[in-house]
Amino acid sequence: MSELLSIELNGKSTGVEPELPVSSVMGRRVYIETYGCQMNVSDTELMMGVLKRAGYQNASSPDLADVIVLNTCAIRDHAEERIIGRLSQLSEIKQKRPDVIMGVSGCMAKHVSDTLMAQAPYVDLVVGPDSYRRLPELIAEASDDSAMDVRLDRDEGYLGLDPLRQDGTNAWITIMRGCDKFCTFCIVPYVRGRERSVSALEIVRQAQVAAQEGFQEVTLLGQTVNSYTDGTYDFADLLSMIVDVDGIRRVRFTSPHPSDFSDALIDVMAANDEICRFVHLPVQSGSDLVLAAMKRTYTVDEYMALVEKLRNAMPGLCLSTDVIAGFPGETEADFEATLALMREVRYDSAFMFKYSERKGTVAFRELPDTVSEEEKSRRLEAIILLQNTVSGEINQAYIGRVESVLVHGDARKGEGKAIGRTDGFKTVVFPRDGAANNTFVDVEITETTLRTLTGRIVR
Ligand code: 5AD
Ligand code: SF4
Repeated sequence: MSELLSIELNGKSTGVEPELPVSSVMGRRVYIETYGCQMNVSDTELMMGVLKRAGYQNASSPDLADVIVLNTCAIRDHAEERIIGRLSQLSEIKQKRPDVIMGVSGCMAKHVSDTLMAQAPYVDLVVGPDSYRRLPELIAEASDDSAMDVRLDRDEGYLGLDPLRQDGTNAWITIMRGCDKFCTFCIVPYVRGRERSVSALEIVRQAQVAAQEGFQEVTLLGQTVNSYTDGTYDFADLLSMIVDVDGIRRVRFTSPHPSDFSDALIDVMAANDEICRFVHLPVQSGSDLVLAAMKRTYTVDEYMALVEKLRNAMPGLCLSTDVIAGFPGETEADFEATLALMREVRYDSAFMFKYSERKGTVAFRELPDTVSEEEKSRRLEAIILLQNTVSGEINQAYIGRVESVLVHGDARKGEGKAIGRTDGFKTVVFPRDGAANNTFVDVEITETTLRTLTGRIVR
């Protein structure tokens, strides 16, 4: 899928607060599980907003729900396999309660719409990303018979579909949808459709609403977020407008495409401390031959020049990336070039994947999947090993530093410990010491691992 940071959500559930019933669906309960990237997290909040306004209530587990929806990802084969497995598991609920409506939304719904209902006959509802506005109607239709709407709609601007936000510290704001880049490996342009941007004034309004709700951090989302334009304002203009919203202290965005990183954007970032010193800059490969075959539209030299410009403008900037191992035709020399680039850039972190052939893409049609599964695994392991070493070294250098951390919640492990993030997007765990969620604390870093900084509050 997109270059949005892929996060394994493991079916994180999102629910709505009960409110007064407004229609015949009164009291019906919905449960949505989210897979894939932040765009899906944001879309789940949007679907929950639509359903809440139609009178639905939250179910805290699928066992208690009248409607179960899996909001899915199609980026790699593995993502789709997991969802088929989960659907089969959830079908037991349908056996016990045949009236339950089982739905699939999101990218996979679009990608495999023609085969999904045959493969998982207990699915009643298939909803593509541009049809969330019609969700209540489609659920009603599915109560009588199965319902499907996976059309891509250029005119669907998602206006007025205010999300029902869950996370108490970060507000996702989707500023553009779809992708026109057509990287040869990627399914996103086919399942999410053409690029469309929301108007800057509407995005500012959403940021103001989020600030009024108490959010101090916003993350602007888009498949290629920095190719944003509403005809009047580009992404650099938009960022300047967002940093001026009262109450917003941190602004993040993901994912930018290296070819759309303008000097004006770098200037706006450098001039505004509210814009976090973290950029996820997907490189995919360190070989010009592979980059060309991927149709990434930049060379290694151009990418490296961009990294240098960013670091010169913002010393201490944290960087992450996406890397694909074993793209069709990737030779040992190409793979070595990727390792060399990673050694040179020294990313703080990386999402690293084996190439997964996606039906419908240019690579699927024209580039045979030449690298064996074993070889892909070997290359991926080497890439991960290198990145782990670099991440460990970079994090270790944080020992003794004091970082401003926005407190998110309780740490999963460790009694009484809180978790939060630095400006550079590093996860920090520390004894809570009475600090409330959604406040900023200064934490002195005392220990580090590959993925986490540990410390104690000093202020
Ligand atoms: N195979 C492997 N990885 C992929 N990605 C996108 N499509 C594929 C694919 N077919 C990765 C890219 C992208 C990230 C979100 O997922 O690295 O940036
Ligand atoms: Fe996919 Fe490329 Fe578009 Fe990113 S830029 S969503 S990788 S086609």
